[in-house]
Amino acid sequence: MKFFIDTANLKEIQEAYDLGVLDGVTTNPSLMAKEGIKGADNIRAHYKAICNIVDDNVSAEVIATDFEGIVREGKELAKIDSKIVVKAPMIRDGVKAIKKLTSEGIRTNCTLVFSPGQAILAAKAGATFVSPFLGRLDDISQDGIELIAQIRNIYNNYGFGTQILAASIRHTIHLVKCAEIGADVATCPLKVITDLLNHPLTDIGLAKFLADHKKVNG
Ligand code: G3P
Repeated sequence: MKFFIDTANLKEIQEAYDLGVLDGVTTNPSLMAKEGIKGADNIRAHYKAICNIVDDNVSAEVIATDFEGIVREGKELAKIDSKIVVKAPMIRDGVKAIKKLTSEGIRTNCTLVFSPGQAILAAKAGATFVSPFLGRLDDISQDGIELIAQIRNIYNNYGFGTQILAASIRHTIHLVKCAEIGADVATCPLKVITDLLNHPLTDIGLAKFLADHKKVNG
């Protein structure tokens, strides 16, 4: 399973990259706004700065919601760097634009997916990635993990090449469940990635090893 970090914060992206486990980055307009990035030139420069840190797979989301606008904006974003993946929403014009961008060799990420039917549409349009938001389903008392399993099953049935990018992951249990199901990618905040390091028996075991070593070696 690939690990993407879900942030536009350069320091966090660098930290995850330095850990040696990062395969990409997902951003969205809320995450860009959180970093205070505004204005077309600054937004482009920020995407470029992200691309300069990681090896590949930087999702940059369009703001347009009409077909022509999404395609135009998607092409502009794709020109920033070959690592850019154009993120477009699961709406009628988004699906049409994903088909068009895909036909022109531009990688796409279909975002805001909350049902298996939407995931089928994204795959049929040729999206490189589909982003089901499992945490936001949990937030409304629906089973986000079950959605990932349903999409995995459907994509396997038909050999769809679209990669399942499990998004809106809130904690390590989400992430591990996604790995069990066979999600292709998990995108999550830095904390979820670093929380994977933690187990109390690791800390206790290491303290004991070091203490035993010290007893004999001083
Ligand atoms: O970037 C899309 C998704 O991961 C958002 O997550 O936590 O805002 O629901 P969240």
